[in-house]
Amino acid sequence: MPTIGIYDVKEFEQSYYHRALKNYTIHLYEESFPENPKQHDIISVFTGHDITAELLKKHPRIKMIATRSTGYDHIDLAACKKRRVIVSNVPRYGENTVAEHAFALLLAISRKVLPAVQRTRMGSFSREGLTGFDLKGKTAGVVGTGRIGQHFIRMAKGFGMEVLAQDPYPNHDAATQLGFTYTSMPTLLAKADIISLHAPLTKKTRHLIGGKEISRMKKGSIIINTSRGGLINTKALLKGLMSGRIAGAGLDVLEEEDFIQEEAELLWAHDTKRIKLALQNHVLLHMDNVLITPHNAFNSQEAVMRIMKTTVENIKAFSVGKPQNTVHA
Ligand code: NAI
Repeated sequence: MPTIGIYDVKEFEQSYYHRALKNYTIHLYEESFPENPKQHDIISVFTGHDITAELLKKHPRIKMIATRSTGYDHIDLAACKKRRVIVSNVPRYGENTVAEHAFALLLAISRKVLPAVQRTRMGSFSREGLTGFDLKGKTAGVVGTGRIGQHFIRMAKGFGMEVLAQDPYPNHDAATQLGFTYTSMPTLLAKADIISLHAPLTKKTRHLIGGKEISRMKKGSIIINTSRGGLINTKALLKGLMSGRIAGAGLDVLEEEDFIQEEAELLWAHDTKRIKLALQNHVLLHMDNVLITPHNAFNSQEAVMRIMKTTVENIKAFSVGKPQNTVHA
């Protein structure tokens, strides 16, 4: 009987896994996958810890990784293939959930919700400096028109926005059905008042938004990123925000976001690139026109339930020799 290690498990999730996997030997851990965990045949992880080739070498028993996420950029798929480790993800769980969070960030920026609430908490009901802007009539530029991107588009249309989109694999049926237009990246950047990123992080999409792209953006535009931090070059974003080219940013994800949580590790790191990024993220954290949430877009009761259910199904399918939802290098 294979043993299963499920990492990064919250207290409320424990009873579900115990119940759903009662015929298996399972070990639940509150921490992310550590450097020297117990040896298990199957592990389940979230996105907070990179599963590298080096880490896999230390754990020769692992045969399957069930990531409790849609994105799998935290797992070295090439190393898994070499070691014949099967990787399964949760392809569908939060398309509406993540799009709703992107809108929460957008509305919080457009209507200055955070400073307004901070002010009333202090006992002031002054509206000075709290004038926001309407979404109706504005143009949204959606990068990535997959499951989450399409939900974002549906919501944007509901607000009366025009939608331009970019995707190397355009879905023309969706464009007709939802009423949006595919265009080139330079046109999207030049015309969009709000840009929302919904593409996966891959070698090709890393720094999809860099200095050149930001210089092409409409002055005063807003950028929303609920996808992966690595899609945006953080230094270029900071420069764009400081110059006013970008008026505001709503970010659920940051480049190298793990290091914000484990900052002490930076004290011993010799990796100056990561130290610089941590510093840039700190500057972002304290900017008035930037809203940052802790990779929380997926985190609704309904979506978490769907993640747990699919993860259990993925583990069971693998253990009877019929892996499902597999992802490959
Ligand atoms: P999906 O696979 O349905 O859609 C991704 C779309 O991006 C595809 O249509 C693809 O063709 C497109 N794409 C690929 N390269 C592109 C490029 N260079 N430019 C523009 N588009 C490109 O994925 P889904 O479910 O919509 O998720 C999108 C991303 O959202 C995931 O990869 C994940 O990183 C992120 N995510 C974040 C969560 C959070 O809690 N913040 C939760 C769930 C997903």
